[in-house]
Amino acid sequence: MVSSRGLTLIVPFALATAVSSAALDAATFAQTPFDFIVAGGGTAGVAVAVRLSEIANVTVGIIEAGTFNADDPRLNIPQGTNTAGLFTNDLYSWNFYTTPQAKLAGRSLFMARGKLLGGSSAINLLGVALAGAVEYDQIGQLGNPGWSYENTLKYFKRATNMSVAPKELQEETAATFSYKFHGASGPIKTSFASWYSKATPPFYKALVQLGFAPVRDGGNGLDAGSVWNPPLAIDQDTKTRSYSGNGYYLPNAGRRNLYLLTNAQVIKVNLSNTPDASGNYTATGVTYVSNGITYTASVKKDVIVSGGSVQSPQILELSGIGNKELLTKVGVKPIIDLPGVGENYQDHIITTSSIKIPSTIETWDVFANPGPNATAFEQ
Ligand SMILES: Cc1cc2nc3c(=O)[nH]c(=O)nc-3n(C[C@H](O)[C@H](O)[C@H](O)COP(=O)(O)OP(=O)(O)OC[C@H]3O[C@@H](n4cnc5c(N)ncnc54)[C@H](O)[C@@H]3O)c2cc1C
Ligand SMILES: *[C@@H]1O[C@H](CO)[C@@H](O)[C@H](O)[C@H]1NC(C)=O
Ligand SMILES: *[C@@H]1O[C@H](CO)[C@@H](O)[C@H](O)[C@H]1NC(C)=O
Ligand SMILES: *[C@@H]1O[C@H](CO)[C@@H](O)[C@H](O)[C@H]1NC(C)=O
Ligand SMILES: *[C@@H]1O[C@H](CO)[C@@H](O)[C@H](O)[C@H]1NC(C)=O
Ligand SMILES: *[C@@H]1O[C@H](CO)[C@@H](O)[C@H](O)[C@H]1NC(C)=O
Repeated sequence: MVSSRGLTLIVPFALATAVSSAALDAATFAQTPFDFIVAGGGTAGVAVAVRLSEIANVTVGIIEAGTFNADDPRLNIPQGTNTAGLFTNDLYSWNFYTTPQAKLAGRSLFMARGKLLGGSSAINLLGVALAGAVEYDQIGQLGNPGWSYENTLKYFKRATNMSVAPKELQEETAATFSYKFHGASGPIKTSFASWYSKATPPFYKALVQLGFAPVRDGGNGLDAGSVWNPPLAIDQDTKTRSYSGNGYYLPNAGRRNLYLLTNAQVIKVNLSNTPDASGNYTATGVTYVSNGITYTASVKKDVIVSGGSVQSPQILELSGIGNKELLTKVGVKPIIDLPGVGENYQDHIITTSSIKIPSTIETWDVFANPGPNATAFEQ
């Protein structure tokens, strides 16, 4: 057994090796007395687990279905998402497809979801963009106390550490922002790219001429009708991706009260056999599969379900929490009839457009040439 106690040094990022050895084995994990278990070590799950483990006398466990390869250049090179095909990489992506969508001429759409410590933040396109204020406010208005733009902004700021772009980038590419909407000391490093296509400045100007308001910082809660340059989750000190695996977990891997189990899939939240007087069940633990063997770990306080927007509902349904009829049909014993679970999934739409421009303008195409491509990879 190698416990998280073994790793006490915070090594420079590029030198970090065998970090997954900080993980517990599946059988030892099941014997550990946890206060909290986080089911799904993704973007949010890792952040929640690490923040909880700031409380020295609580014990926190993370169960992640994927791996943790902190030194894989495909994850760390910011453009790896494109160049190494991370979206479709079997090791790091679940490679889901939707069911055929009636409103999309019956097509099934590909849905990338990260499958590794750090979750989708380890394979995503790095854009650090807030939604409009109205969206956060409406989540609150639906009956979720604490949700509002003003309140969530506090947490976005706490998560991030934004660095100022060089003056010429600010002028040429609108690489501007305000600390009103960005943090200065959080674990996720954010910044502007240090290289832009020469097509960027004229494109920006053209949009402004067409009537889009030039905005200094799109985190301002107004996310429509404007043109702006969103920051990226890149650490400019190391020129690497900053995500919850290396931002939250890695510097805290040595905490004595934080345990990580990778390559283990949660198949159920165990609930108390009977409800309490008010009809509520208590989560008593989590059942997971590792190397084909099933284990159950128990919790004294809470199970935090953080499998992401696709798999959190799946974990709940497998636990008997969901639409009673649907669960019965697929052979899961319904415990809590909650018909909303797993329904009404919505995703944001993204469109890209291709525009022919004179070949004299330098674009990303320059990296199709061996010389500039090799230089860029070296950097
Ligand atoms: C390809 C791609 C590009 C994107 N680009 C951007 C962008 O540029 N900007 C932006 O803001 N957002 C972007 N997003 C969205 C953003 O990355 C996600 O919304 C966010 O990371 C979701 O965080 P999460 O914690 O909810 O889920 P995730 O980060 O997906 O975490 C879920 C975790 O749970 C694990 N898990 C699931 N089921 C189980 C189980 N049963 N047992 C154990 N572990 C389990 C998964 O392996 C995963 O690690 C992108 C997403 C993708 C996929
Ligand atoms: C941790 O310590 C605090 C303060 O002493 C106490 O209130 C709390 O119950 C303790 N939690 C656990 C899980 O022991
Ligand atoms: C914020 O980021 C800057 C630049 O990378 C770094 O020098 C600074 O130490 C960071 N601040 C904190 C509190 O981590
Ligand atoms: C938890 O659920 C699993 C799978 O159904 C079961 O095998 C196990 O006995 C349960 N454990 C407890 C303590 O309820
Ligand atoms: C039972 O659950 C309801 C709804 O989540 C909650 O309002 C209530 O406080 C719970 N009761 C107990 C005794 O925990
Ligand atoms: C750029 O270099 C990388 C790393 O050597 C290589 O994998 C990739 O195929 C190259 N791309 C092009 C377009 O030459």
